[in-house]
Amino acid sequence: MGIKIVSTGSYVPNKVLTNFDLEKMVETSDEWITTRTGIKERRIAENETTSDMATKAVLKALSGESAEDVELFLTATATPDMFFPSTACIVQANLKNKRALAFDISAACTGFIYGLYVADSIMRSKNIKKGVVIGAERFSKILNWEDRTTCILFGDGAGAVVLEQSEEEGILGFDIGADGSYGDLLYVESVGSNNKPPHYLYMKGNEVFKVAVRTMTDSAKRVLEKTGISADEISMLVPHQANVRIIDAVAKRLGIRDDKIFVNLNRYGNTSAASIPIALDEAVREGRVKKGDLVLMVAFGGGFTWGSCIVRL
Ligand code: ACO
Repeated sequence: MGIKIVSTGSYVPNKVLTNFDLEKMVETSDEWITTRTGIKERRIAENETTSDMATKAVLKALSGESAEDVELFLTATATPDMFFPSTACIVQANLKNKRALAFDISAACTGFIYGLYVADSIMRSKNIKKGVVIGAERFSKILNWEDRTTCILFGDGAGAVVLEQSEEEGILGFDIGADGSYGDLLYVESVGSNNKPPHYLYMKGNEVFKVAVRTMTDSAKRVLEKTGISADEISMLVPHQANVRIIDAVAKRLGIRDDKIFVNLNRYGNTSAASIPIALDEAVREGRVKKGDLVLMVAFGGGFTWGSCIVRL
C-alpha cells in the first residue's frame, strides 16, 4: 500500500499589487525588486480569510467530488484565521464534512512539506484512505506596509492536494528538519498577554538568504540520496517560491536544468506555506508535469525549518 497525490488545486485572490503600486507606498523600485527577487506582482486578499482561500483551493482539488469521505484535513499556515478553531476545522465545516481528523501545522514556509510528511505518516499507520493537505496564507495581514525590506516579498493564496491510498507508491521519501537557534532571523510575534498588536513579520533578509541556499541544497541532496534517485531523473523541481536567486542557486548546485524548474513567484511573490502547492497545481494544469513524473519539492522557512519530498505523480 502506498500514498499518492491524486489531485491538486489552488486559489489566489483577484487583487493584484504590482511593484509599480509598491513604488507609491514605500521607497522602492520595480527594478530593485525584480533584480533582487524576481517578483513582479503579488495577490492580496481583501475580504477573504485564510480559510476562505483554503476552502476554494480544496474545492478545486476535489473537482466536483464530495468531501464527505475525507478522513484527514491538515492545513499548514502561519496566518490562521484565529488560534482556534484551527483553519483545518473551519475548512472542514465549510465543506460539510463531519468525521475527519482536522488540525493545523506551523512551520512557516516549510509548512506544506511538514504537512505532507505528517499526513503521509498518519495515513500509513492508521490506514486512512483519503486525506487533504492544504497550504494557505494571508501574509498581507502580518506585513508592515511601511517596511520596504519585507512588504515587497510576500503575497496571499492557497494550494491543496488530495492524498489517497494506492497500489502504486506515490510519496517516495522525505528529508525534514529544523534548527530553532536561527529563530531570531525571521519571526512574527504572536498575540500573547505580554505583546501588544500589531504583530509584524521581522526578517534579516540577507542572513536568511545565505542559510536558505545552503540548507535547501543539502536537504534536496539528502532526499535524492535516501530515495536512490539521481537529479537527472527528476522531471521537475518545484521549490518554495521566495526568491528566484535562491531557486537558481539551489538548482545549479543540484545540477538541475532551467527548463526543469517551476517558477511562478514573479506573479505571486512568497506565499509561504501556500507557495509549493500553488506551484505544483499550476505545473499540473499547465502540463509541465504529468502522471508518472518524478517531482522534487524543496522548502525552507522561519524556525528555521526545512523539508524536501520526492513524489511520483
Ligand atoms: N527597495 C529598495 N532598496 C531596498 C529595499 C527595497 N524594497 N529593501 C532593502 N533595500 C536596500 C537596503 O536598505 C540596503 O541598502 P544599504 O545598502 O544602503 O543598507 C540594500 O537595499 C541591500 O539590502 P540587502 O538586505 O542586503 O539586500 P539583499 O540583496 O540581501 O536582498 C532580500 C534582500 C530580497 C530580502 C534577500 O535577502 C532575500 O530574498 N532573502 C531571503 C528571504 C527568504 O528567502 N525568506 C524565506 C523564508 S520566508 C518565511 O519563512 C516566512
